[in-house]
Parts: sequence; structure tokens; C-alpha cells
Amino acid sequence: MDIHVFTLFPEMFRGPMDESMVGRAVAGRLVSLHLHNFRDYAPDKHHTVDDTPYGGGPGMVVKPEPLFSAVEAVLGPVPSCPIILLTPQGRPFRQAAAQRLAQFPTFALLCGHYGGVDERVREHLATEELSIGDYVLTGGELPAMVVIDAVVRLLPGVLGSQESTAEDSHAAVLLQAPLYTRPPLFRGWQVPEVLLSGDHQAIARWRRQQALLRTRERRPDLLAEAELSEEDRRFLQGLEP
Ligand code: ADE
Repeated sequence: MDIHVFTLFPEMFRGPMDESMVGRAVAGRLVSLHLHNFRDYAPDKHHTVDDTPYGGGPGMVVKPEPLFSAVEAVLGPVPSCPIILLTPQGRPFRQAAAQRLAQFPTFALLCGHYGGVDERVREHLATEELSIGDYVLTGGELPAMVVIDAVVRLLPGVLGSQESTAEDSHAAVLLQAPLYTRPPLFRGWQVPEVLLSGDHQAIARWRRQQALLRTRERRPDLLAEAELSEEDRRFLQGLEP
């Protein structure tokens, strides 16, 4: 997979994208991360990438020319891959979007900065806009890294065989059950008996119920969307007072 990132701060990606799973995927050539500084594509001699907003107001606006020129120089005049603008105005980035992006051989991420990007970038260059949450960051770089991490771990061969992503579609709609490892007793705190029982069916049932409980308590919005079995529903009904 080829991931193209258009940013004013390519150095921000070096550390995080060199480590751990993404680093391994890049080293193993499962992913190529192409970092493009769109300042290099600014046409004037000062390489200006921002300007004041028409109509006035605070902050600066990323100019359209450098971004259009950079994307067209790298991906051609009529790119066919997804071109995603990271912005707090975008659709919320969720597991389903990561799964969709993981299917493409190539996609591009545009990182805005300052007060925002010129609207023509949204309208005529980006194919979609994503937000990683309801807060405003200083730029699209951290959100781009979040998207890359979430997508890359889904690519075949990136996770070890131990760490399956098969349950991720569940993870998208139900929170995970509690996890424990050795020792079984730590500072007086016990690992739940069922996990030590070796009874795989009982363990699976316990995990499912814990996931349902946790989701009901912390994210009832997700529970409303979840695919629930008859058994799940009976369990949840049994909890009602
Ligand atoms: N740029 C600034 N804040 C952002 C956010 N929350 N999501 C995506 N891009 C952003």
C-alpha cells in the first residue's frame, strides 16, 4: 500500500511512523509512506503557503495553489485514489472507515494548518473529509498519523497471527472485555476465576457479557448500533431492574 501525506511538517511523522507496528510494516515493505512538503510546491519565491482570510477574521488560511500543485505533481492531474482532508469539520473517523481505506492500494492525506484550508481544496481536490474527534488540533498531522495507524494494522501480515483483527468489526461497535495476564494474584487483586478455568465456551460467554456491560455503561450510543444476538438481548434484559 502507498500512502501519500501532504504536510508542512513532514518531520513530525518520523518518530511515530518509524516505531512499532507501522514502523515494522514500512520496514517490511507492506506499506510505503511518502511524505510531501507542499511548501516546496508554492509558486512564489518565498514559498508562501498561507494568507489572510477574505472578509477578515482571525487566523491564516492555507492557500490552494501549493496543495493542488503538490497533489497533481505526485498523483497526476486526475488522481483516482481517495484524497482525504483531515479537518474537525470532517465525518467522524471510525473503524468502518479504517476498514474501507485498508482496501485501497493507494490513498492520500492532506494536512491542513493555521485557521483552515481554502474551501476550493475541500470542494475540488479532496474526495472526503475526516475528523478524529470533536476537538481542534493545531494541524492535520496527528490526525493523519491516527488514520495511518488504524489502517496499517488492518493490512494482511502486519499484525502477528496472535493478534487478530477479526474481532475489530465488533470492536467498532462494542467495547472490549477486560484483559488479564500473569500473575493470577497481584497485590491481592484476583484474575476472574472463569479466565483460569480452561473452559473456552464459558470464557467466550464471559467476555461477550463483559463487553456488553462495559458498552452499556460507557457507550450506550454504540450499544444502540451493535449487532446483538438473541442471547445478548436476553442478557441485557436480565440486567434491567
Ligand atoms: N485538524 C485539526 N483538528 C482536527 C481533528 N480533530 N480531526 C482532524 N483534523 C484536524
